[in-house]
Amino acid sequence: MDDKRSKILALVLVVTLISLITVSALYLGSSWQFFSIFSGCIIVIFAIFIWLIRRRSKGAALILPQKHVMSRELSVPCSFLRKVAGVPTKFRQKELELATDNFNALIGRGASGSVFKGILGDGTCVAVKRIEGQERGEKEFLSEVAAIGSVQHINLVRMYGYCIVPGGPRFLVYEFIQNGSLDGWIFPRRDKRNRPAGCLPWHLRYGVAIDVAKALSYLHHDCRSRILHLDVKPENILLDDNYRAVVSDFGLAKLMGRGESRIVTNIRGTMGYLAPEWLLENGISAKSDVYSYGLVLLEMIGGRRNMRVIDDSKDRSLRKYEYFPKIVVEKSKEGKFMSVVDQRLLEGRHIDERQVRTLVYTALWCIQEKVRRRPTMAQVVDMLEGHMHVDEPPETEMIIVDLLSIDTDKVGPGKCRLKATGVVLSDCNPAASSSAFEDGAGTLLSGR
Ligand SMILES: Nc1ncnc2c1ncn2[C@@H]1O[C@H](COP(=O)(O)OP(=O)(O)OP(=O)(O)O)[C@@H](O)[C@H]1O
Ligand SMILES: [Mg+2]
Repeated sequence: MDDKRSKILALVLVVTLISLITVSALYLGSSWQFFSIFSGCIIVIFAIFIWLIRRRSKGAALILPQKHVMSRELSVPCSFLRKVAGVPTKFRQKELELATDNFNALIGRGASGSVFKGILGDGTCVAVKRIEGQERGEKEFLSEVAAIGSVQHINLVRMYGYCIVPGGPRFLVYEFIQNGSLDGWIFPRRDKRNRPAGCLPWHLRYGVAIDVAKALSYLHHDCRSRILHLDVKPENILLDDNYRAVVSDFGLAKLMGRGESRIVTNIRGTMGYLAPEWLLENGISAKSDVYSYGLVLLEMIGGRRNMRVIDDSKDRSLRKYEYFPKIVVEKSKEGKFMSVVDQRLLEGRHIDERQVRTLVYTALWCIQEKVRRRPTMAQVVDMLEGHMHVDEPPETEMIIVDLLSIDTDKVGPGKCRLKATGVVLSDCNPAASSSAFEDGAGTLLSGR
């Protein structure tokens, strides 16, 4: 019998017995018959109550272990669910010390901190980014962590968690991406034995271009609140075991409300990849990421940094730079697309010239100085996937060449003045940023 029916039956029985007592009291008075009916009814009512109480406690005893089993079921895969759902875990510093063997295996160093390889207790391989000199408050840091953690896309690196040491460094724990960053795969470099290291073939470069475009398009158009990356560069594009691109480092990203089209913020990002509107203080938008992406495309095509020192004078103000995008514009006007392709690639497999032209034209559209002319990242995806025709891009002035000629002399240590604008940038010290600074890839932490 179910719980509800038995309760109703007990209630009906009790009411009947009480009515019996009342009726017998009326008709029998205080006779011995009344007292025997009265005591019989009271015993039955009492028995009913005991039965009800016992039934209730039995039910509770049955429910409790069930609850216990359920909570165990929930707690066992909790860390797994957290990972899948993208909820960042709060790590203790001790856990990270253990995972990284006391921060022993350094993967790389950037302007904001260092990255170490580690293995968590459950065997997950991670990259732990130690951020020193955090300027942002704890609340801001946590909101950024929550925003990053909630972003899920196959071409965006996953963040597993974070750690805040009061008065000390902060840590971000990312999934470890097997093949390191794109710079190591497109720029000629030597391994420890001085042999040429990895050179990414053309078809994989084209795939990487699409992957990165999809990741940025997702951040710009498909997230609940629009996210700008603001530091798109080869060092922040990682390659997984299948050489698919995974965009990393949202540490500099600024969340942007959907209604806003432009935001003005401190200068953040990496010199050599900054859109002119950064330097002209015009306010930045998703199109600033498009500009940086275009520059990365050109570097992928050419297998070289966009900015190269050609006359390495000791006096920085006398140094001469070669600006690859300018060369690409000239060559593309002449229709000589293959002449800008990484020479190492031309020695191997056949490369489809139409694909090169598509990539070159797309890149040149992205680096248009007029913000309105640049495509959105969603359009870039369509261009590269062949869903949208890519016309020849219009001429662009490339004032960035003048803007990036830096005069470090007169503004004091650790600062640079951009000649054309007089904007003073702090933390321009080459030692504080990646070794690529000399090629125009130094990182700017903050400005104004
Ligand atoms: N999740 C990861 N998996 C594998 N390697 C990584 C991961 N994250 C970063 N790295 C490596 O660590 C290097 C340093 O990263 P970091 O972000 O600190 O500096 P950066 O990207 O060179 O400059 P910036 O500080 O401007 O971002 C990267 O260039 C990359 O090679
Ligand atoms: Mg980085």
